[in-house]
Amino acid sequence: MKLITKIASLSIAAALSASAYAGADVDAGKATLKQNNCLKCHGMEKDKDAPSFKKLSAKWKGKSDASAKLKTHLTTGPKVKLEDGSEEEHKKIKVKDDAELANVIAFILEQ
Ligand code: HEC
Repeated sequence: MKLITKIASLSIAAALSASAYAGADVDAGKATLKQNNCLKCHGMEKDKDAPSFKKLSAKWKGKSDASAKLKTHLTTGPKVKLEDGSEEEHKKIKVKDDAELANVIAFILEQ
């Protein structure tokens, strides 16, 4: 009985971490990303001036600090290097609230 309880709670923990973005709306995230013109530099599948969202997703997926790091990246305008070697401040995303930003991050991580 004890072991079963333990297994049950372990699988609940796994389910919870897998669904950290359960409340996020991935389609809405995609729409926000389009509105923000993010695809000007990032292709969905193809690299443009910047890596594709598919690549970025592979880079960040499964990392425990992914959402915090991506949030900082998207809201603070860090210096980035474009494919042609020039540097500029990264675009700050325009969102109405944290939930909208969470949708964008969920979308990126699901590519
Ligand atoms: C002017 C071109 C440009 C636009 C527009 C742009 N980005 Fe970027 N983005 C870059 C470059 C360049 C990098 C850095 C790539 C590198 O260093 O490998 C980057 C990096 C990123 C990263 C990876 C950060 C990391 O630490 O791995 C994410 C996520 C990202 N952009 C999302 C977005 C989103 C979302 C938008 C729209 C709000 C957006 N970008 C708009 C050029 C752009």
